[in-house]
Amino acid sequence: MQNFTFHNPTRILFGAGQIGSLRREVPQGARVLLTYGGGSIKANGVYDQVRKALEGFELLEFGGIEPNPTFEHLMKGVELARAEQADFLLAVGGGSVIDGTKFMAAAIPWHGNEWDIVSRHMAPRAALPMGTVLTLPATGSESNCFAVVTRAATQDKIAFSSPLIFPRFSILDPETTYTLSPRQIANGVVDAFVHTVEQYLTYPADAPLQDRFAEAILRTLIEEGPRTLADPTDYAARSNVMWCATMALNGLIGAGVPQDWATHTIGHELTALHGLDHAQTLAIVLPNLLWVQRTDKREKLVQYATRVWDCQDGNEAVRLEKGIIATRTFFEAMGNPTHLNAYAVGEDRFGEIVDRLQARKSLPLGERKDITSEKVLEILALAR
Ligand code: NZQ
Ligand code: ZN
Repeated sequence: MQNFTFHNPTRILFGAGQIGSLRREVPQGARVLLTYGGGSIKANGVYDQVRKALEGFELLEFGGIEPNPTFEHLMKGVELARAEQADFLLAVGGGSVIDGTKFMAAAIPWHGNEWDIVSRHMAPRAALPMGTVLTLPATGSESNCFAVVTRAATQDKIAFSSPLIFPRFSILDPETTYTLSPRQIANGVVDAFVHTVEQYLTYPADAPLQDRFAEAILRTLIEEGPRTLADPTDYAARSNVMWCATMALNGLIGAGVPQDWATHTIGHELTALHGLDHAQTLAIVLPNLLWVQRTDKREKLVQYATRVWDCQDGNEAVRLEKGIIATRTFFEAMGNPTHLNAYAVGEDRFGEIVDRLQARKSLPLGERKDITSEKVLEILALAR
């Protein structure tokens, strides 16, 4: 096992009715800026629940945070928070609202060009405290120190991290997810699945506990994902998917093990250039990346096929391939196509993706840093 430091300071309040706990979690006397997206929280009653729980608090609002939140829009929220001297941020929504609010938390006290926090990974020395009410289980953003922000003007979609942007608390009420569309449910399950795979499917690192944590999350998503699609108000299924998504990217399963974030890195370019949803890109890239990297990842791929997909028959090569096919079939069954032709992204655009990765100095990718520009092109060609 590799050395690691594990510290997750986010307090999780899980279950139906937990939005009422906001009164105790938000500091007394805080000037709260409530942030949200395009209006789903107003349509499904979450906004009213939040306002009721915070009766008596000074509450400002900043809405309109887009899926794949943009620097340009978020800076309006930063200006508002500065002008109104907000001192606590409350993000109510999915990963985009939470990520956008994390950026705002770091940008509000920042002196200088705020985009540097994202693009140059300049470490913020301060950030406003924030909490979240999660309405879309997917990203794990509610309990981690990462955020992904897009600069619309240049189509740059970039992740940054800082220990200062961990939410102080996150409220996870599965009932808030009942109004999600099948597309967003599928996206959430696939995103959590791929987060788990990217911290698990590398090479053996004598870390059986982390392996079994990861396998437990994957098996649970395989069981519960289809149940959430079949019945949007299945509380047990919604709860299980929600907890899986948090556990998939809160630092626990990745502690002490090699990681491979190549699928996400390639996927971010597909979103920035072609507007695909985040998880739609992952469903396309991951199965093809696993195939191209099958020699590097052989031992863990066989373990994955055997323990996660119960592929017991055949030699290693056969089981390994069955595991990759099962992954693709699962994504398709959830409703996420695994080929680019479903989104009309042609082969002529692949070079641009590689050029951008090169310009960002992101290449080579992978746990062994051997996913070169040629391999990215091979992955994309398989994904046509
Ligand atoms: O904007 P509103 O009106 O709220 O609608 C949203 C949005 O249109 C809607 N929605 C959310 N909760 C709902 C709901 N609709 C009905 N009922 C509800 N309960 O869903 C749409 C998508 O929301 P979004 O927040 O964009 O989705 P998601 O949670 O998948 O977040 C995706 C973003 O997170 C980043 C992605 O790159 C992308 O920008 N990621 C963040 C990570 C992190 N911070 O650790 C890791 C991930 O890998 C990912 O990169
Ligand atoms: Zn993701």
